[in-house]
Amino acid sequence: MDEQQGEPSALEREGRLGQGAPTAPHLHITHPLQRARVVLGVSGGIAAYKAADLASKLVQSEAVVDVVLTAGGQEFVRPLTFQALTKRPVHTDAFAPWTETSFGHITLAREADLLVIAPASANTIARLALGLADDLLGAIALSTEAPLLVAPAMEHGMYHHPATQEHLATLVRRGVIVVGPERGRLASGYEGDGRLASVEMILGRARALLGRDGPLAGKHVVVTAGGTREPLDPVRFLGNRSSGTMGYALAQAAIDHGAAVTLITTASLSPPVTATVVPVETAEQMRTAVEEAVKEGDALIMAAAVADFRPDRTQHQKIKKRPDQDVLDLRLTQNPDIIATIDHPGLVKVGFAAETHDLVDNARAKLAAKGLAMIVANDAVDTIGSAESVATIIQRDRLPDELPRMSKQRLAAEIVARLIPLLEREHDDGA
Ligand SMILES: Cc1cc2nc3c(=O)[nH]c(=O)nc-3n(C[C@H](O)[C@H](O)[C@H](O)COP(=O)(O)O)c2cc1C
Repeated sequence: MDEQQGEPSALEREGRLGQGAPTAPHLHITHPLQRARVVLGVSGGIAAYKAADLASKLVQSEAVVDVVLTAGGQEFVRPLTFQALTKRPVHTDAFAPWTETSFGHITLAREADLLVIAPASANTIARLALGLADDLLGAIALSTEAPLLVAPAMEHGMYHHPATQEHLATLVRRGVIVVGPERGRLASGYEGDGRLASVEMILGRARALLGRDGPLAGKHVVVTAGGTREPLDPVRFLGNRSSGTMGYALAQAAIDHGAAVTLITTASLSPPVTATVVPVETAEQMRTAVEEAVKEGDALIMAAAVADFRPDRTQHQKIKKRPDQDVLDLRLTQNPDIIATIDHPGLVKVGFAAETHDLVDNARAKLAAKGLAMIVANDAVDTIGSAESVATIIQRDRLPDELPRMSKQRLAAEIVARLIPLLEREHDDGA
C-alpha cells in the first residue's frame, strides 16, 4: 500500500493481512482488527453499558465500528454514547430511509468483516436461533456472510432455561462463536452464571476469529516467553530481566494469522485468549514442555531468555548468612540448550540472539550451529525488559534484514510475516 494513502488497497482488503510476503518496512496492517469493519449489536440487558467499553476498545484497535442498538438496547444505553465513541452514525431502525450509497441492513451486512453481539439478551439469542428478521440486528444477522460472535449476558435462570440452552446450541451448530457467559455476581445481586464475558475476552476472540483463515490456518506454533527462574533455595532464584513481552506478542501475531499457539511461559502477563498456556519456571521445565508441545508443532519460536546456567543444587532450606561470611560461592551447572537439542523433521525453528557485541556475526554462528531457519538478533541491554526493540532478522542465504526501532508487537508481526513463507516451503517440500 502507498504510504500516502489512507485507505487499504484491494489486496489488503481481500487478504486483510497479506499473503505472508516479507513486509518490512511497509507493514501497515499489523493485526486483524485494524481497519476491520465490525458491526457491534447491543441488545437489551443491564450489561449494555459494558458494550460502550467494548466499542471504545475496538475503536482503539483501529476497527471501523458500526453500532446497531435493538429496541431493548436503547432502553439501557443511548445511541449518542456509541456515536461519540465510534465517530460514526448509530443504527436503530430497520426502516430508516435508504440513500444512494447506503441500503440499511443490506449495506451493513455486506460491508461487515465481523458481527459481534454483546451483550446478547436471551430474547435476541432466541431471535437469532429462529432466524427472525423483525428488527435491524436480526435482518443483518440473516443477511451477512461475516462470522458471528455472540456474548450472552442474563440472569442465571434465564441462561440455564432449556429454551436458551437449545437456542445457543443451535447457534454453535451453525458455526456461531459463543463467548461466555462467566460465573460471578449478577446485576440482581445473586451469584450465578450469566455475566458478560470480559471485554478483553470478547476482543481476543474477535481478533482470532478475524484471523482464523489466515496463512497460518492449520499450523501449530509453539512460542516460549519470559526469563527462566533457577531456584537457589525455597525463596530465591537466579533470573534475568526478560519480561515476556516479545513472546506474548509473537503468540498473538501467530494467532492473528490463523495459527494454533502453545505459549510456554515463565511470565504472568495477560496471554492471547485463544493460546494454550503452559506455565513453567526453570529451563528444565521449559525443555520438557517444549519437547511435548513440538510433537504436534510446525514451528518453534524461542523468545524466552533461558538461563545458560543454574545452581548445581537447590538448597531445601533458606540459605542463611553467617556473621563472619563476606562471600558466598555458588556453583553453577550448564542448562540444556533447548532450541539446539530439540528437533523433529519439518520443525521450523526461530531463535533469538540477545548479544552485547558482534551482533550479526554471533547470530549467524548460532543460526548455523542450532539448525535454525531464522534468528532475530538484538542488543541485549537495549532490548531485554524494554517495550521496544531494534532487531536484525537473519535467515539462511539472505542478507541481514535490519529493522528500525519498533514496538515488540510490530516486530512480532514482522517476524511472523517472514515465518509464513518458511512454513509454506516446509509444507511444499514435505508434500
Ligand atoms: C432492568 C432490566 C434488566 C434486564 N436485563 C436483562 C439481561 O441482562 N439479559 C437479558 O437477556 N434480558 C434482560 N432483560 C430483559 C430484556 O430487556 C427484554 O427481554 C428485551 O425484550 C430484550 O430485547 P432485545 O433482545 O431486542 O434487546 C432486562 C429487562 C429489564 C427491565
